[in-house]
Amino acid sequence: MATPPRKQLPNSAAPAIDSQPSLKAISAGHLDIGCAVHDTQRLSPKEQQLLLHHFSSITAENVMKPEPIHPEPQRYRFEPVDAMVGFCEQHALKLIGHTLAWHQQSPAWFFETGDDGLSPKHRLSQHIAEVVGRYAGRLHAWDVVNEAVADTAANGEYLRDTPWLRALGEDYLIQTFKEARKADPKARLYYNDYNLERRDKRARALKLLQRLLDAGADVSGVGIQGHWILDQVPFEEIEQSIEQYAALGLEVMFTELDLDVIDRPDCSADLDVQRAYSLEEDLYRDGCPPDVLARQAEQYAQLFQLFRQHPAVTRVTFWGLHDGQSWLNHWPGTRTNHPLLFDRALNPKPAFWQLVG
Ligand code: XIL
Repeated sequence: MATPPRKQLPNSAAPAIDSQPSLKAISAGHLDIGCAVHDTQRLSPKEQQLLLHHFSSITAENVMKPEPIHPEPQRYRFEPVDAMVGFCEQHALKLIGHTLAWHQQSPAWFFETGDDGLSPKHRLSQHIAEVVGRYAGRLHAWDVVNEAVADTAANGEYLRDTPWLRALGEDYLIQTFKEARKADPKARLYYNDYNLERRDKRARALKLLQRLLDAGADVSGVGIQGHWILDQVPFEEIEQSIEQYAALGLEVMFTELDLDVIDRPDCSADLDVQRAYSLEEDLYRDGCPPDVLARQAEQYAQLFQLFRQHPAVTRVTFWGLHDGQSWLNHWPGTRTNHPLLFDRALNPKPAFWQLVG
């Protein structure tokens, strides 16, 4: 695909937020533009203004994951989530709940039969009924299952070896979707994962999705996380993926988009992958060089050109509001990253201007 021509970038100081072209307005009618937010109660006034000016939806970055929302068998932590739901209603933002069944950020007791006599199957049911039921009718959607497909075809398995799979077998996937649907009859229900665009993993994901649909699970869409690395974006595979997932009748979304400007060990987003970065490897701790920002702008533009060409693509969510909030400052190790559209001072970067130009 041809690279879009580079736009003239403004060289004066960044315009005030209110005078910036709005990302959500530009995409209105065909693409919902979202970002992940950790805690709506801890947004600064300027972050809130930026969020409301540019984004039409948010995804709960952490507060709705099993461990934060349900730290002990009889204890839930709903307070930050209630606040987030209220914030979204107040400002007419769609909210995407993230996530119900995942092998990460889930307490170990979830997968064990405890002194209370509850089995993992019951715990999962109870969790879904409590959490999804509490917010039924108020959330736009749920990332119901996260990262259940295997990264490699080792042992001929197509599913990732997780405590859920070991405890309940493949049926936990169908159970999770069916119980989510029961607890909220209207929310859109998604399967979400990283590297879903890669040919191999895509074949396994298509198999899972087909099995879920055949079993009567009400899957509304597929979320391709999109944690990509600068200069390594797999554009062709992304385009093939959109077409193949859409052919199942599913919404296709890019749910956790960022473009890492520092190389990392692999292109996954597996939280188990860890590495230490030395001070010398923290290449851009004093700022990101203009040529890197320009390449990032071109690659974001090329991605959006692709997204906009395919009506099956309904949402693009950035994984964080601005560079200072990105998880890529901490994973797979600590370094100063610059993966998003707004910098640490909340000013639009070249990638932003390229997208709205
Ligand atoms: C990340 C959060 O951004 C971090 O704050 C947290 O410490 C770890 O999880 N794939 C996912 C997200 O589906 O839930 C992860 O979010 C990033 C990878």
